[in-house]
Amino acid sequence: MYELTKQVRALMNDNRRTYDGHQFTLPSPELYPFQWLWDSCFHAIILSHFDLPAAKAELRSVCSHPLPNGLLPHIIYWGDDTAITNWGREMRGNIITDAWGVEGTSAITQPPIIAHALWRVYECDFDTAILHDLYPVVSAYFDHLLTCRIDARTELAFIINPDESGEDNSPRFDTAQSLPPIHSADQNLDQRIARMHQNATCNFEAQTCMAKHFAVVDVPFNVLLTDGLEHLARIATTLGNKRDATRYKTRARTLAEAMRQYINPETMYHSRNVRTGSTISVDTWAMFMPLFGGFLSQQDAHELVQVHLLDTSRFWLRYPIPSTAQTEPSFDPHTGFWRGPVWMAPNWFIYHGLKRYGFHDTAEELRAKSVRLIERSGFREQYNPLTGEGIGAHNFTWGGLVLDMK
Ligand code: GLC
Repeated sequence: MYELTKQVRALMNDNRRTYDGHQFTLPSPELYPFQWLWDSCFHAIILSHFDLPAAKAELRSVCSHPLPNGLLPHIIYWGDDTAITNWGREMRGNIITDAWGVEGTSAITQPPIIAHALWRVYECDFDTAILHDLYPVVSAYFDHLLTCRIDARTELAFIINPDESGEDNSPRFDTAQSLPPIHSADQNLDQRIARMHQNATCNFEAQTCMAKHFAVVDVPFNVLLTDGLEHLARIATTLGNKRDATRYKTRARTLAEAMRQYINPETMYHSRNVRTGSTISVDTWAMFMPLFGGFLSQQDAHELVQVHLLDTSRFWLRYPIPSTAQTEPSFDPHTGFWRGPVWMAPNWFIYHGLKRYGFHDTAEELRAKSVRLIERSGFREQYNPLTGEGIGAHNFTWGGLVLDMK
């Protein structure tokens, strides 16, 4: 573990950038030369193991660009300095900035794990300064989601663009985008660019406009929203704000109840297409996210793990956990991106879900296999679940999350 900590520390140092007094970490300098919202939350959790000031700086920088409506954008492009590669400059200059319709950031978000990360960092030294400073931005972000992103029918939150899930091309979003299970990466990108243009045409108005084109009640997003509200309530209590604490606790409870009603064994813990009102019957790692949220009964958790997670034909492959089950027609273990390859953040979520329900041996096996992937193939963006081969970006930070599997 000592050797691994040294490697993670070196990786995080190499990917660190400072711009305009803001310090942050690039997920991968070669392919992702900007700051991403949920990546920075993972970074803060990783850094909290060996560099607390950097963990705090990461959270401060990712909270520095809220949109006027409170939303935290999923990308901050930062300035035109050495942080940005030529590729990044071109990307920022072309599609992305124009299509998002906002200067310097995107105008959509990513799963709301920020309150969880903030609490984790706070717990390292109980320094309330970071809570004081970031609470206004983080609570405004959650307030925005609670006001503008709740589906009236299920009372659960919806995303308005696949990229808001953090799993850009996951097959969970195929039917909502009229895509067949097997299609090319270009076809998928075309659809997602079309979503971006629709979002911009809608002036990023979620309920009245964007949701007419794409609206999915996605399981990980809702688990993290619920978990985030619980953490926000803890933060509010620590800051002496009883009113907010009660409000967030109540909202967390309502969301957890709605989750139990709509995301349960009968619906196979699948996400829902808001526009059609139907369950999205595609098996992906997201089915196991309710374990992380902790709102399953022990019996349901047991069944979810024994029958589904440990199924060697679907999820418990040589190197678990594939982002999409092997039995799905969309499964593509090497070039699939979120349609098969293993990503470390899902492994981290599932590890903590397993621990929460007392599946210590399975959790340990998942940790050991995740470490083996890094030893075998380095810090890569994804890994082939059948061979362990590294795929996509090099020097990708998410592997550092293995330090937080214990
Ligand atoms: C990819 C991932 C997304 C991540 C981004 C930066 O687009 O799908 O989850 O935030 O890369 O690492």
